[in-house]
Amino acid sequence: MNTLALDAALRERCRAITPEIIALRHAIHAHPETAFQEERTAREVAERLRALDIEVTTGVAGTGVVGLLRGGQPGPTVALRAEMDALPIQEQTGAAYASTTPGRMHACGHDGHTAILVGAAGALAALRAHLSGDVKLIFQPAEEQVAGASRMCAAGVMSNPPVAAIAALHGWPGLPLGTINVSPGPVMASADAFEIAITGRGGHGAMPHLTVDPVVAACEVVGALQSIASREVSPNAPVVVSVTAIHAGEAYNVIPEAARLRGTVRTLDPAVRARIPERMRRIAAGVCAAHEAEARVDYQECCPVTANDPRACRAIREAAEPLLGAASVRGDGPPSMVSEDFACYLAEAPGAILRLGLGDTPSLHNPRFDFPDAAVPLGVALMARVGLRLLGCGW
Ligand code: NI
Repeated sequence: MNTLALDAALRERCRAITPEIIALRHAIHAHPETAFQEERTAREVAERLRALDIEVTTGVAGTGVVGLLRGGQPGPTVALRAEMDALPIQEQTGAAYASTTPGRMHACGHDGHTAILVGAAGALAALRAHLSGDVKLIFQPAEEQVAGASRMCAAGVMSNPPVAAIAALHGWPGLPLGTINVSPGPVMASADAFEIAITGRGGHGAMPHLTVDPVVAACEVVGALQSIASREVSPNAPVVVSVTAIHAGEAYNVIPEAARLRGTVRTLDPAVRARIPERMRRIAAGVCAAHEAEARVDYQECCPVTANDPRACRAIREAAEPLLGAASVRGDGPPSMVSEDFACYLAEAPGAILRLGLGDTPSLHNPRFDFPDAAVPLGVALMARVGLRLLGCGW
């Protein structure tokens, strides 16, 4: 089959499976499962892949599923990835297929991503005799905790056979439906977590001069940490330092012994990221020393910067242009300070994550967000074509 005939067959196959894939999206949406509990979703995915005669491994990194679609011709192995986890949010969409589990919902579109990858697997499986190489289909748990991908990698998902290149998509509210954006370089931030334990000396709320007040010290630390972004890092290098939790004290008339701050740090540059812990320790220790209090900083690196490979971006654009039209395929999206554990796969192979336009929908993680059905067939055709294009790139 030549490229044109292969392309036509792929389009036809994608069209044919669209209703089934939309129904699958609704079924997954109705049964959301949060990080490392994606058992029902994983079972559904594994059954669908087995029905397509794809080699399936389950229980990877807990609840992950990996399919290996072997092509009829020799070639590299490329990977396509989706996430299966939902969020601890009470759904308010009012959809007929809304979450049946209180306090859990697919508010990040991972129901759409999972269904789309099952659809792309179906389209590619129908053409397997003509594929030059193998396609690995990675369905990971726990993206929302930026924990699933690193565990999938530790479980060896990028080896045996080794993955030459990898791609993923994420639905993007605000980007017009029928368009994509895939930009080279950093597209999503690194994510780190910190906890600062401040120790003072407790006492009576009416006699502060006899205490070392950790509340006052903690408040000054929160303010001083803002100078990391404004005074310690170049204005040209985006960095976010957010204190998201403060815990201290119980009673209105007691100055507590200790206070605890927690928060997150985001950067787009590994060199900037590497310098943050020392700055944070210096600021916390210095401010607390001024109050005779002590600070202990526990800094945890969670997820690296997601940096798209330029060649993979080009391959994705080439796959998308015949489908969407050149004007709807863009490579100039501004980076987001949100993080994505897809970065972990990119540490092992070149690849890229594309943003799939979802049009005018509520934002990700909003209780009224719902992955639009209209984006599903586009996603299926796109991922199938991306798989095909990556195979043809000669990595
Ligand atoms: Ni997401």
